[in-house]
Amino acid sequence: MRYNPKAKTVLALETSCDESAVAVVRFEQGRVSLLANCIASQIEEHAKWGGVVPEIASRLHLETLPHLVGEAMAESGQSFQELSAVAATVTPGLAGALLVGSVTGRTLAHLHSLPFLGVHHLEGHLASVHLSKTPPKFPYLVLLVSGGHTELIRVERDCQFQRLGRSHDDAAGEAFDKVARLLGLTYPGGPAIEKLSIDGDPKSFSLPKGRVSRPQGGFYPYDFSFSGLKTAMMRQVQRLQSEDIELPLADLAASFQEVVAEVLVERSISCTLDQGLKTLVMVGGVAANKRLREMMLDRTSINGIDLFMAPKAFCTDNAAMIGTAALMRLELMTCSSSNQLGVSPRWPLEQSHLLYQSKAPF
Ligand code: KG4
Ligand code: ZN
Repeated sequence: MRYNPKAKTVLALETSCDESAVAVVRFEQGRVSLLANCIASQIEEHAKWGGVVPEIASRLHLETLPHLVGEAMAESGQSFQELSAVAATVTPGLAGALLVGSVTGRTLAHLHSLPFLGVHHLEGHLASVHLSKTPPKFPYLVLLVSGGHTELIRVERDCQFQRLGRSHDDAAGEAFDKVARLLGLTYPGGPAIEKLSIDGDPKSFSLPKGRVSRPQGGFYPYDFSFSGLKTAMMRQVQRLQSEDIELPLADLAASFQEVVAEVLVERSISCTLDQGLKTLVMVGGVAANKRLREMMLDRTSINGIDLFMAPKAFCTDNAAMIGTAALMRLELMTCSSSNQLGVSPRWPLEQSHLLYQSKAPF
């Protein structure tokens, strides 16, 4: 493939949690295309322990990443000379895991005299919707639902983000994982609950739609709380067990999934309407959930809102979304991250522009 100066091509690495992922993405004539997408999931290794073990995650990233880079470059048909930049997730996530991707990306960039971009993982999730055939036009509201975050974010052109809603305790994905464990299902809980729910009655248990009280009275309209729901599920299980009743696992799973979907859909729609927006976007691991996708599609269409969802394959962690976020930054300005930029377990999304300034924020 010949070098095309008008197209920008990025090699991207993602290692913030339990997926080692490498992708090559290109931006040309206003569109993002995927030249290679390689993922090595560590889920089986972590499932034995019931959740992600940070030390195991780092070691597996270290073992896998060099092979994935070779595989992705070969699949893309690109040489390093044809790339515009190398990108890697630098925050938020498990520090040791982030370090593996960041150091690998930075080393490759240095070796091939390319700029390095340290990407915010949530900016990656937000960018994942631009990997769909018909991406949305700015401005829009995003419901970001993953294992670590449940947030409503207003996105303007130029990578400007404003958080309007958030969870005060567990993220929706975390609630799926914890409830799955309660029901004796495997990690990750989301897909396990989704599968089990197929044969369940979503109306069999009445469960609370957690709300967050304001100190001055009333509720935060766009905030979430899943800890009460988790406790309610635990009480139901304990009650049934104390009465020696065999757990109706499918009904419990379906009732839980239904109430989580209802809460996410209701608050996303009211926030979109209150903001005077016409477009709602849904991204993140939980956005892969079929029932949530169906319900969101139904209710947005009733309310005259255009819905855009990240393709299912790009809802859970992947490197294509990290590359897409880097391409969007490169479209905005000629930028790279400071040589001093490290990794951080936490960093606010609203401050992600600081990752591209000469003075590294961490
Ligand atoms: O976005 P993601 O891959 O990683 C984070 O950045 O957190 O999200 C992982 C989360 C896990 O909690 C997992 O249980 C949940 O997404 N998840 C799902 C489904 N697939 C993954 N939850 C509900 N339904 C699914 N189909
Ligand atoms: Zn993620």
